[in-house]
Amino acid sequence: MSPRMDAFRARIGGFAFGGDYNPEQWDRGVWDEDVKLMRQAGVNLVTLGVFAWASLEPEPGRFTFGWLDEAMDLLHANGISVDLATPTAAPPAWLAHEHPQTLPVTDDGHVFGFGSRLHFDPTSAVYRGHAAAITRALAERYSRHPALAMWHIGNEYGPVAYTPGSASAFRAWLRRKYGDLDTLNDAWYTRFWSQRYTSWDQVCPPELPRSWSNPARRLDFTRFTSDALLECFTAERDIVRACRDDIPVLTNFMRFYQRADYWRWARAEDAVALDIYPDPGQDDSHVAAALNFDLMRSLRAQPWILMEQAASAVSQWKVNIPKSPGRMRLGSYQAIAHGADSVLFFQWRASRGGHERFHSAMLPHSGTGARTWKEVAALGGELPRIAAAAGSGTNAEIALFFDWDAWWGLTQTHGLPRNDFDYPALVTEHYRPLFHAHHAIDLICSRSALSRYRMVVLPNAYLVGDRFVRALEDFAAGGGTLVCSFFSGVVDENNQVRQPAYPGAFRGLIGAYIDEYWPARDGEEFAVSFADGTTCTADWWQESIHPESATVMASYAGGDFAGRPAVLSNTMGAGRVVYIGTRLDRPGLAATLLGAATAAGARPVIAGAGMPGAPEVPEFVEATRRANDCAEYLFLLNHSATDSAVIGVEPGGTDLITATPVSGPLTLPPLAVAVLEYPAAPPAT
Ligand code: GAL
Repeated sequence: MSPRMDAFRARIGGFAFGGDYNPEQWDRGVWDEDVKLMRQAGVNLVTLGVFAWASLEPEPGRFTFGWLDEAMDLLHANGISVDLATPTAAPPAWLAHEHPQTLPVTDDGHVFGFGSRLHFDPTSAVYRGHAAAITRALAERYSRHPALAMWHIGNEYGPVAYTPGSASAFRAWLRRKYGDLDTLNDAWYTRFWSQRYTSWDQVCPPELPRSWSNPARRLDFTRFTSDALLECFTAERDIVRACRDDIPVLTNFMRFYQRADYWRWARAEDAVALDIYPDPGQDDSHVAAALNFDLMRSLRAQPWILMEQAASAVSQWKVNIPKSPGRMRLGSYQAIAHGADSVLFFQWRASRGGHERFHSAMLPHSGTGARTWKEVAALGGELPRIAAAAGSGTNAEIALFFDWDAWWGLTQTHGLPRNDFDYPALVTEHYRPLFHAHHAIDLICSRSALSRYRMVVLPNAYLVGDRFVRALEDFAAGGGTLVCSFFSGVVDENNQVRQPAYPGAFRGLIGAYIDEYWPARDGEEFAVSFADGTTCTADWWQESIHPESATVMASYAGGDFAGRPAVLSNTMGAGRVVYIGTRLDRPGLAATLLGAATAAGARPVIAGAGMPGAPEVPEFVEATRRANDCAEYLFLLNHSATDSAVIGVEPGGTDLITATPVSGPLTLPPLAVAVLEYPAAPPAT
């Protein structure tokens, strides 16, 4: 754990609660009411200044810090800590006007002009210079302010620029990566379509919409963009650290965000933070939310910060459905259950104008009479009861591969057997049955250590590097179970088909070769029969599989591939590899994954039916555990709005929210949450 985060945690003393606070949008008179209500709601941390550049530097080099001095002092006087943002996600009008070359150009050649936010080219030296200046001025002024608890750099980094500046930064990045043009030409396979480069000046970012451009070039430009954005973050991080080194520095990530490789970014921060807005209009949005929470925890294998969520509706979608009563509380505890050490919102007080004027807030337009305010204030009052759980960790036996290179390979390049892969959706489909069966799941990337897991799941790992292939082979040979789904192990890191194909890198692992990939027609389904007599359907994809050392677990019962293998099992050393060569329906995928998990000895976090007299834990109840040296915390969350659940839990615990001892089966009403504390097991002697 970062010592800076230890200090932050000691200062907050439990879970951080609060949100983005934009006093610059309001007259001074409103601020006193703000802090009074913040205290009423139990707010202990606010994020200040995220988009306040124009209010802090109305003209180049003229800083107007008076209002921020007053806001920081006021918050401090009221016992509220500050997560102080650098305002560099929203450059002021003067910067765009005087330096139009700081504006990004989109892939279709249009300038993304002033008037929204994130209108900066991350490679622009002028933008970076002005961002550094305001960051330095803020750091010099506020580093020693007693309210300062955390630095929040920028906001949701994401712009991509197809500018001349970005082209030259891309070339510099490529020179660092490849050294010389011959190596680049080989890596990009430029012998195809006469694409060979003879001078660095000829190399440019790909023109996406107009052509089928080189797949390795597109992949590298995507990698470069993530790195260029990260450089903006680290430049500002280093400025604030130079003024004071013991304050945590981070930025906020987004749900399933493709443009930044968060595994690499997480290493540059003191903690990971997430903004998440699960769609209340979708019944199962809590499943993908749980996956994203697990990803955030896994990125640094540490507790993380829930930086933004909505009190109720958002304003960015076509139809913005509110969170019904109890849903905000449930979602907040869900983040904590997956390792968050905070519940923070966008935003404190709803904005009167601007694009987000109908976005919900902790304090909505209708004030303290509002339902959402009451729910927010109640949650703020309740969280201190579970304060002991802050900072605790988790322990998973199953790991799920979620890797940006693998994602980019599948989705940033044309010319695949099918070009409609939705990587987050495919990963979520593999996560879902394990989540519903109450397994703890870590996310891993190609550099993660595998030995602590019993099972590793690789959904559609199209692009994998050699080192990861060796690590997977060692894992399986050492007794681990791998479950791998179709179109995996196909290309190397340069997006070139591994020879001999297919599946190149994974042939030894899956114990078979594939001579043809066979995408399905729309609506086409195939019956699949398992060796144990069960059946399911599959769609979307088939492969012409030829087992070598593998045995057939399931075959197609009809269609072009009738009688041919659909699912394989291969023994490798002391371990096992299950290969799923098609898109199984939900029951089929669940049976395959859960069968492999059971055989691997992975235990769900709650025994349910295993407890004497206890019924099965229903799918709509989520269960996770966190633990520290003193105690273990069992989180139970009922996602059903209509059904209660009776859960068999170990006796000897205390329900922290109700402060009652737990002796027998626990009843969870619809949307209810229980946090049960158990003394830590004594260390084995
Ligand atoms: C986030 C952003 C916030 C606000 C919020 C609305 O992505 O960081 O500033 O726009 O979305 O849901």
